[in-house]
Amino acid sequence: MKNEVTVYCPATISNVGPGFDLLGFALEEPGDEITLRRNDTCTLRLYDESGAGLPLDPKKNVAAIAAAALLEDSGITDGFDIIFKKKIRPGSGLGSSAASAVAAVVGINELLPENHETAALFPYAMEGEVAASGSFHADNVAPALLGGFILIRSYNPVDIKHIPYPDDLYCAVVHPDLDFKTYEGRKILPKNVPLTDAIAQAGNLAGLIAGLTTSDHGLIGRSVIDHFAEPLRTKKLPHFNELKENTLKNGALGTGLSGSGPSIFSLCRSSEIAASVAHIMMEHFTLNSITSRTYVSRVSEAGCRITG
Ligand code: HSE
Repeated sequence: MKNEVTVYCPATISNVGPGFDLLGFALEEPGDEITLRRNDTCTLRLYDESGAGLPLDPKKNVAAIAAAALLEDSGITDGFDIIFKKKIRPGSGLGSSAASAVAAVVGINELLPENHETAALFPYAMEGEVAASGSFHADNVAPALLGGFILIRSYNPVDIKHIPYPDDLYCAVVHPDLDFKTYEGRKILPKNVPLTDAIAQAGNLAGLIAGLTTSDHGLIGRSVIDHFAEPLRTKKLPHFNELKENTLKNGALGTGLSGSGPSIFSLCRSSEIAASVAHIMMEHFTLNSITSRTYVSRVSEAGCRITG
């Protein structure tokens, strides 16, 4: 039985426009690295080597909550050190809490005498995500765990499907240095939406899935529109609509808020277009006196994986 393992877990873009709580995909970068090491204390001990300001109380840390759920269910009382080297900032809208929870369960699983199938780790990772956000949404956890472009067709029962997408699909991402908490971003949402918005959202979600599966780039672009959350959440971002227009004018197929923000993503048809859109995004925030970082990435087919 191994005593130590290191895992890499990708960042994820969730919602993807019209897929509120239902769509998400894994990025090639950024990603978190977490090392898990068996200790002889029968407790979980946490070490944050990334200076991300993570809670180090196992009862308040998403990774430890997820790891504890898996250990308890497996009847294991061993203790573990969890060492975080996070590159996905908490509060970035890039699935930071999901990456922590998923990395912890994938790592612990590797150190168990009997390993679970990857998909069977989903409920344990979700325990961490629920603790972080106060809601059962899997559009970051599922792609972080399984990789690819994911549709959660149903939560009751959970029904997760991989969606094919065009080979030339690239994503530009900007992460401005602002901190948006998912639980706050959910509190501002209405409990009910007007029927007209529900119809528009359903049309766009169906359109996006159809566009992705048939490589219809125009349809993908026309469908990346969110009527539920984005209009409310982007009020806190300076001149979001102007930035969105600008990315579309410069070749992005579709642009939207990543998860509950503040990161923004654009789907693009080539790495060159994605690089120039990422540049436009960064300039926008610089002009508004906000530092940011950008990423250009394909959809990562690989989810969380063992690296050492
Ligand atoms: N679907 C979730 C939300 C993702 O928008 O609240 C949070 O990252």
